[in-house]
Amino acid sequence: MGEKISVRSFFYHRNNLYCERVKVNEIAKKIGTPLYLYSKNSICNQYKSFKEAFSPLSPLICYSLKANSNLSLLKILKNLGAGADIVSLGELFLALKAGIKPEKIVFAGVGKKEEEIQEAIRKNVYLFNVESSSELRLINKIAVQFKKKVNCNLRINPDIDPGTHQYVATGKKESKFGIAWDKAIEIFKNNALPQIKILGFHVHLGSQILFPEVYESAIKKVLETVKKEKIKLAVFDLGGGFPIEYEKSVPPIKNFARAIIPLLKELKIKIIFEPGRYIIGNSSILVTKILYLKRDFVIVDAGLNDLLRPSLYGAYHRIVPLRKSLEKTFVGNVVGPICESGDFLGKKRRLPVSLKEGDFLAIKGSGAYGFSMSSNYNTRLKLPEILVSKNRYKIIRKREKYEDIIK
Ligand SMILES: Cc1ncc(COP(=O)(O)O)c(C=O)c1O
Repeated sequence: MGEKISVRSFFYHRNNLYCERVKVNEIAKKIGTPLYLYSKNSICNQYKSFKEAFSPLSPLICYSLKANSNLSLLKILKNLGAGADIVSLGELFLALKAGIKPEKIVFAGVGKKEEEIQEAIRKNVYLFNVESSSELRLINKIAVQFKKKVNCNLRINPDIDPGTHQYVATGKKESKFGIAWDKAIEIFKNNALPQIKILGFHVHLGSQILFPEVYESAIKKVLETVKKEKIKLAVFDLGGGFPIEYEKSVPPIKNFARAIIPLLKELKIKIIFEPGRYIIGNSSILVTKILYLKRDFVIVDAGLNDLLRPSLYGAYHRIVPLRKSLEKTFVGNVVGPICESGDFLGKKRRLPVSLKEGDFLAIKGSGAYGFSMSSNYNTRLKLPEILVSKNRYKIIRKREKYEDIIK
């Protein structure tokens, strides 16, 4: 490519969609669709902006692997200094494989199994975010066998409504997550389990939280209780949940930092964050091909097994053509090939009338909970993942093969 194009993540240049300095159309033709495409520039910028916003707290930033756990992406984040928030042995395996040090790994999850706890203790993860007194006792039993002291945080259910979709609201009383307030205080104060060191509290309120005040009220609630009960915290893990723009604009990360930092700075304790979506969500697009145009349906080759969010949460993803057109538009439903009426990527979208079968579309904001939630439903193969860095791209996960799914 002869011409110089500045490094931006996803943008149009002469009506063609680019990822950094690579024309997306060229990748789609070469690799075939559907595919996930990532911009390294975007991942780095997101991580750096998060780090910078919260720098007065010098937090441990544990990237939440559930958002996207591709090994190559993890290596980028590890090189930027990230730790890991994990929920399974698979994620532990990947975090370690990416070179993330165990002392930067926190292990969450409401249903940790005995063998998972064993392996995490064997690998010396920094702490467990514990969700019940039974779990704490099990960790202690295993820690006794290993003759190790194990760090734990108690995950509190602060009963706060984060104002998000009910499936991703995790800090409300009705949700399965966390320990009720009074119970958590009792456990903290009376812990007599010999191998358990309770360092502090963990709250994760939900995902795509649009209002800094939600964090503010959760922190205030924790700190008031801590003061009243004369509890000494060493660690406070605030979880993830920081929003990105899908449809409407969201407050910048600085606004969240402005609300959170003054409340925590004076405590002089270790602060942990677990951002997932914020780092990776808008760092990727899902590229798909139009197979058929029928009535008001645009039938594409990506479906709910590739990107579940629209079907699962009614989530909105912008959909744009790889070749921009300024012509007239029509309103269509972008749907996949899966045998479910709920298989859609976007409803009632304005698209150029010039779109033809064989053209490509980009589903934006698909980096978080995109590939990581994908499945083989309808016995379809999982998609390849491609990483762009400046004017180069590489395959960071091959398209699955049929032999892979009968292993
Ligand atoms: C405990 C915990 N931490 C962090 C995250 C990451 O959330 P987000 O991707 O919204 O930042 C999640 C997401 O479900 C979570 O459950």
